[in-house]
Amino acid sequence: MSIIKSLTNDINEIIKKVGYEIENLILYPSNRKDLGQYQLNDAMLLAKKYKKNPKVIAEDIVKELEKDERFTNLNIAGPGFINISLSDNYLIESLNIIANNLTENIDKLPSKKIIIDYGGANVAKALHVGHLRSANLGEALKRLARLLGYEVLGDAHLGDYGRPLGLVILEIKKLYPSLPYFDEAYQGDYSEVNLPIDNTDLETIYPIASTKSKEDEAYLEEARQITLKIQNHERGYYDLWQKIVAISKSEIKKVYEDLDVYYDLWLGESDAVEYLDELIEIYTKKNLLKESDNAKIIEVKEETDKAPMPPLLFIKSNGSISYETTDLATILQRKKEYNPDEIWYCVDARQELHFIQTFRAAHKAELVSEKVNLEFVGFGTMNGKDGKPFKTRDGGVMTLKNLISIINEETLKRLDEETLSLEEREKTAKTVAIAALKYADFLPYRGTDYIFEIEKFTDLEGKTGPYLLYSTIRMNSLLEKAKKLPQEQIKVLSSEIEHELALTILQLPTILLKSISSKSLNDIAEYLYNITSQYNKFYSENRVLTENDKSKQESWLTLTKLVYQINNMLLDILGIKVPEKM
Ligand code: ARG
Repeated sequence: MSIIKSLTNDINEIIKKVGYEIENLILYPSNRKDLGQYQLNDAMLLAKKYKKNPKVIAEDIVKELEKDERFTNLNIAGPGFINISLSDNYLIESLNIIANNLTENIDKLPSKKIIIDYGGANVAKALHVGHLRSANLGEALKRLARLLGYEVLGDAHLGDYGRPLGLVILEIKKLYPSLPYFDEAYQGDYSEVNLPIDNTDLETIYPIASTKSKEDEAYLEEARQITLKIQNHERGYYDLWQKIVAISKSEIKKVYEDLDVYYDLWLGESDAVEYLDELIEIYTKKNLLKESDNAKIIEVKEETDKAPMPPLLFIKSNGSISYETTDLATILQRKKEYNPDEIWYCVDARQELHFIQTFRAAHKAELVSEKVNLEFVGFGTMNGKDGKPFKTRDGGVMTLKNLISIINEETLKRLDEETLSLEEREKTAKTVAIAALKYADFLPYRGTDYIFEIEKFTDLEGKTGPYLLYSTIRMNSLLEKAKKLPQEQIKVLSSEIEHELALTILQLPTILLKSISSKSLNDIAEYLYNITSQYNKFYSENRVLTENDKSKQESWLTLTKLVYQINNMLLDILGIKVPEKM
């Protein structure tokens, strides 16, 4: 159990002993450090519950806390705010326990098996900034959840099915009508056919086909027919589809690797299709399908709905299946193959309705039990300075590659030419640019939109990824320079800022739990900035390497090492790599 948790439990016990009970006591450092390190505001609540004067309650509690040597400077402010500080002895002892084993000081959660559906890149389409947000968020949640004791499977859930693929194949047909894939008489082996198209071509083909389909009804109809042919595994079309998926998938993998995003499962929408017959049977048997204009729908409206809730389109009138149906089949597949306790979907907030419909339909047919938490972990959009989804200068969709190269360029400009050679700068810029992008993405609550501000994100001085990396590298280089000096024990806390750091360090487990419960990384991002800037203040106030007082020096080095470890641990959760130099 973490120090902060056992401390909280003990305070709770002490309060119980005086005859009061506080639900959900959380110790947060107070922002009035002059009054005390922590403030308990619960006497006011207890006053209502026990019908007593809050000041009297506070006095009762303080009297009992005073008997415990861990607490000092206990005082009551205003109507009954209790200010509590921790004794240096206790703080030092706690820090040494944490420094001895950082991961032991984390509160684990009861074990659970979770699938996180994130990334969601689409085959034959360029990745865009939305995919970046999904990948960042899902990867970080996966790492955090694992650290807290969950078993997690990350699934890339590729968009490899449906209309877009039909469109791409139709356009290829228009460009290369004589390819054997479109020749019904062709008897040969398709794996030997050479496709004159690479991934870059695929990414340009899709927008062309998509525009055509909007202008030309006949073209759209042809694409629908091809989509159906793929879904029916028709020879030729299905083989071409497979080839396109393979080309695109290997490119997508590379992009994710550059982002330090790794999946346990590389499944796609199409992989759920083998469960389709069973899915249809389940819904049919349970009498949940309704006919509507030749389509089959599922009612998912609930009495408590305030907004209109359209039915879920299960099978379209032309016989093809919808995005919702693919997700239902995927739920069935996940249940059968992995049997998870929860499934989290890290997807653009604009898809919320789709998931509400899908989850309701899934529970209605008991594809998974009511206990299995299907959770939509939606995120907002990254906007341009105009407040609209971030676009290229000429108004086109901002691809992820494009975005990364813009931020790379800006980062490169800012790296120090004196400490790094051009080659080193180029290599480092890649890592730092990704850090800039990811950190800026985690800083706001996941659900809020934010504006892409390149100068701000890449600033070495601000609340940014580069600032965190630079500072963390500096901690390491201090430790390297002091390699021969002892760095085992904290013996004294000799300044205000050291006390502040101590409290921040104690707070770490609380922040991790807060983050997993909101499924947002903003608290961790904020914490990283706080601990780093506190450390930097400490660093600028002290000359660690030349300090004569040996117990001070050892304490400072141990503290540095601990902050360095915490930063590494948290940056790793955020999927941010620390370069060697900067
Ligand atoms: N491929 C989809 C898109 O780009 C995202 C997939 C999200 N996951 C899911 N299970 N539907 O919009």
